[in-house]
Amino acid sequence: MKNAVGRDPWGLKNAAGRGAGLEDRRWTPFSMPDSENGVHPGVRHTFPMEQAELIWHNGEFVPWEEATVHVLSHGLHYGTGVFEGIRCYDTERGPAIFRHSDHLKRLEASAKLYYLDLPHTPEEIAGATKELIRRNGLRACYIRPLAFRGYGEMGLYAQSAPIEVTVAVWPWGAYLGDESKKHGIRAAVSSWRRISPAGLIPHAKASGQYLNSILAKTESANAGYEEAILLDERGFVCEGSGENIFLVREGELVTPPHTASILDGVSRRSVMQVARDLGYTVVERDVARAELYLAEEVFLTGTAAELVPVREIDDHELGEPGEITRRIQAKYEDALHGRAEEYLDWLDIVEVGSSDDAGRISTAATA
Ligand SMILES: Cc1ncc(COP(=O)(O)O)c(C=O)c1O
Repeated sequence: MKNAVGRDPWGLKNAAGRGAGLEDRRWTPFSMPDSENGVHPGVRHTFPMEQAELIWHNGEFVPWEEATVHVLSHGLHYGTGVFEGIRCYDTERGPAIFRHSDHLKRLEASAKLYYLDLPHTPEEIAGATKELIRRNGLRACYIRPLAFRGYGEMGLYAQSAPIEVTVAVWPWGAYLGDESKKHGIRAAVSSWRRISPAGLIPHAKASGQYLNSILAKTESANAGYEEAILLDERGFVCEGSGENIFLVREGELVTPPHTASILDGVSRRSVMQVARDLGYTVVERDVARAELYLAEEVFLTGTAAELVPVREIDDHELGEPGEITRRIQAKYEDALHGRAEEYLDWLDIVEVGSSDDAGRISTAATA
């Protein structure tokens, strides 16, 4: 179904016809009305961005509005940056960051793959992040660490351009919406193939690489779907534009392997563990496109989206989320929210009221 794109489809303008502005410290660049656009009622493509007070930028806690860069920053021109998407949940034990060190390990690996020397260790970034959450007074938030080549030199071998590191945190609901988590989304196989390991590095979470995901996401959103599914360069199923994919085939869980150009998702690894602990067989193997239509159940996993069932692909009806998806989703939600004893070691608790991490970071920043 094609979108009926209006004159202000992204909700940039307010009732007076002006840009939404920052009056209430919220940005509303992408609040797409649902039913008018023919998408599943209750599902929006993206959500208003809510500002926090402070951002950690090159070792300092600075006001949100002052965390800026020079327009000649290298990363802005060539996409030379690496980043992470992490979530902190409000649990009984306090704010808890899900698999914090695993995400920061991936950040470090992505940086290494693109020859970016991080000026901070993962431990320093972790400490700064926890202090940032404390100082912003947040209990649940999305966490976006970013390292990029900054201002100082242009050209493709700009080794003297400094590496800037930032961490931002802000409250952010489920990326594909809470309704999607309950009833599933409609997805379409993209005409764009996932980046190939012959030309880029699918294992890295690198800024420039996301142009590929953006092409796929935009195509699917413009066509009225909630998400895109990309095939790899060989034509096998790879992943969503920002999520890994799982299928239920004859009662077993199947997911594409590392060699299918996937990002090694932290949620994917966690969900595989949860599924195995629940007694399901999990198989990593190539998946043919038609299997998407023949599957008993399909779901996506990612930090932003969490675990989202898929109820329709390319107009093939899969139906409401099935029992296996439901069971795994419920257990996974328990793990995220600190309700599952067996997965408590996945949580990095933010001790509210301590300033130890702040001390460590200011030392690191001035070293
Ligand atoms: C392209 C892509 N694949 C998969 C994922 C899922 O990864 P994770 O579970 O670590 O968030 C993401 C999100 O980071 C992504 O951007």
